Amino acid sequence: MILKTLSLQNFRNYKKSEFLLSPKTTIIIGPNAIGKSNLIEAIYVLLTGKGNRSDDKACIQFGKQVARVAGKISDTEGETMDLEVVFSEMTNIFKRKYLVNKVAKKRTDFADFIPTVHFSPIDLDIVDGQPGVRRKFLDEAIEAVDRDYRQSLTVYIKALKQRNALIKDVQETGSRDEERFVYWDNLLIKNGQRISRKRAEFIDYVNKREMDLFDFILDYDSSEISIARLEKYKNAEIGAGVTLVGPHRDDVLVKAKSGEEFRNFGSRGQQRLIALELKLAQIALIKERLDKDPILLLDDIFSELDEKNIGRVLDLMNKYQTVATTTHKEFVIKNELMDVEMIELGK
Ligand SMILES: Nc1ncnc2c1ncn2[C@@H]1O[C@H](COP(=O)(O)OP(=O)(O)O)[C@@H](O)[C@H]1O
Ligand SMILES: [Mg+2]
Repeated sequence: MILKTLSLQNFRNYKKSEFLLSPKTTIIIGPNAIGKSNLIEAIYVLLTGKGNRSDDKACIQFGKQVARVAGKISDTEGETMDLEVVFSEMTNIFKRKYLVNKVAKKRTDFADFIPTVHFSPIDLDIVDGQPGVRRKFLDEAIEAVDRDYRQSLTVYIKALKQRNALIKDVQETGSRDEERFVYWDNLLIKNGQRISRKRAEFIDYVNKREMDLFDFILDYDSSEISIARLEKYKNAEIGAGVTLVGPHRDDVLVKAKSGEEFRNFGSRGQQRLIALELKLAQIALIKERLDKDPILLLDDIFSELDEKNIGRVLDLMNKYQTVATTTHKEFVIKNELMDVEMIELGK
């Protein structure tokens, strides 16, 4: 399936805009702060049901209450479907709505048409960036292929927020009502264990895969969640004001076969190859599990890569529908890309 059109309303800096996308390559060109990453995010929202930057609330244009992203997708027979995501915030209540051909769906089902692979300079720092960058990578890779993971992650995030609010209550009042914790603890444990298991499986998949560019192993540093572990950290979490165990505290170490950690000794070049290799693994998993082609969203990565790595990315761009942003045409036009649609922002 491919994404054919995109229309935005009060989405970040876009008041009302329409775009036509190429079935192969769409290049978005424009100066800094013109809205390139916002456009990529809008596509991400339309295909996955959630943003890839800050809070989803921030997608709504300043001063507005409702943001809409809509688009047409089409299968190989030319059969089309209309997708729409609406984020709204009224009287302090934030809501998300998902529509397929105008019929409301759950996000878990909505995010099932075109698997999405997003690649930005943040991913290039996956080896030595913050743990959150690595957890985000895991989530995106697994969510693209696994509906249960999407469901568990949504429930887990919600339950964690509620449980942390209870901890804050205990902090303020000094008394702990065990009964109120039980419900959220159970939800967290059930969904957290499922998330950990699926993350472990994905890491295992990457480790068993024959690497194309560069060899490394991922070592899952899992923050296990269980009744016993919650009990163990019961006092510490009151001090901290947040839940201290569970997959929201996971990390992944990237190591050489010899066991050394790349963040300690890897060169910048090696770290970039690892980042690319991880994206290749993400694409391979989509192909294997779903037998579908992903759409690639490449946000401003050309200026960060050397010629050889740009060549590798261009090979991918010729295989899949791609939307790529850049500040300078020169990064892409000298190369041979097929069916290119150029969108110049700020003209
Ligand atoms: N909710 C919002 N409402 C209005 N403008 C926004 C919103 N969120 C971000 N912006 C604006 O979008 C611009 C950044 O766009 P971005 O897509 O990151 O630019 P770039 O082209 O550099 O990728 C900034 O000027 C920022 O103020
Ligand atoms: Mg940007």
